[in-house]
Amino acid sequence: MQFFRNHSLKSLNTFGIDVKADELYVCSSVDDIRNALTHRSSEPILVLGGGSNLLFISDFKGAVISPAIPGVEVVAEDGNYVIVRAGAGVVWDDLVAFCVENGFAGLENLSLIPGTVGASPVQNIGAYGVEAGDCIVSVSGVMIDDATTFQLPAQECHFGYRNSIFKQKLKGKCIITHVEFRLQKSAAPVLSYGHVRSEVEKFGDVTLENIRRAIISIRSSKLPDPAVLGNAGSFFKNPEVENDIAAKLKEKYDSLTLYPLDNGRTKLPAGWLIEQAGWKGYRRGDAGVHEKQALVLVNYGNATGSDILNLASDICASVKEKFGVALEMEVNVAGDIR
Ligand code: EPU
Repeated sequence: MQFFRNHSLKSLNTFGIDVKADELYVCSSVDDIRNALTHRSSEPILVLGGGSNLLFISDFKGAVISPAIPGVEVVAEDGNYVIVRAGAGVVWDDLVAFCVENGFAGLENLSLIPGTVGASPVQNIGAYGVEAGDCIVSVSGVMIDDATTFQLPAQECHFGYRNSIFKQKLKGKCIITHVEFRLQKSAAPVLSYGHVRSEVEKFGDVTLENIRRAIISIRSSKLPDPAVLGNAGSFFKNPEVENDIAAKLKEKYDSLTLYPLDNGRTKLPAGWLIEQAGWKGYRRGDAGVHEKQALVLVNYGNATGSDILNLASDICASVKEKFGVALEMEVNVAGDIR
């Protein structure tokens, strides 16, 4: 285990916000995590994976625990399926690359999503018609209050759109250490989202490699690389509204794409709402709205967390005023509002 006091978190969050943590524990095993829980001298605790869905708005007065547990292994296999177990600290895209290289289908549409394996179940990462929860079999971890270990089967994780038990009942209560995924040996490609099929065909046959190439190409053309421009992917969720509200908006705005759900509600594209409210490409100091994807807020260099949060709050107010639709943040905020 590595321990740091009063340590900068700038390189540990993809927004690149320069804040400090009172204590930082980088843990490479379950035992390390249990030790960190026992030895820490400050509260509260923040679990920090790849820091790719997080906005720091102040120094963190507490103990940051980074579950940097390595390892990807096949733990079970039959003629059709494999079970792959990955440590929480594995870079998400390295896991996807491993699966694609070995012919294990299921995660290829989730190529190039920033972050770590341990964070994937928390907000049930999703893209291009697939969610991590579709393939997760179980999630293991350590409870923060008594350092006991647990293994939760997927049915008990309550996966939903950018949601799970780890954002609800277990929020702030546990540290994920491993995730098991069930993957298929014969590909069942999901090509129905947007231009995925035509993009794959540009690379040739529908193979896992070509799906991965296509997704990487689509993402790279729209979404900023956090290593180049600080960001945390989609800042807001796509909001759900009642079908009749969606229908009224569609009557007024023909270019609005509706995503009907099976619960009498419709999902609206937040990126469209934000763009139509005039924010795409907007910049205020070093905080801005990405020029190619309005759902992504960016740090041009020295924005503080509060700069980003103030911009987000103005965007919400303007979308609410123009369309009557409330946006909800997808990104988690850490620290105290000063
Ligand atoms: N749109 C605009 N303007 C924009 C952005 C989008 O009009 O600036 C419109 C598009 O034209 C399209 C619709 O909004 O009609 C949907 O756009 P897109 O396919 O780019 O997807 P999204 O809904 O904006 C979601 C996820 C992304 C994921 C993509 C692809 C959420 C909050 N975001 O974005 O996830 O990559 O779908 O599946 O659900 C993330 O979570 O960090 C993330 C990037």
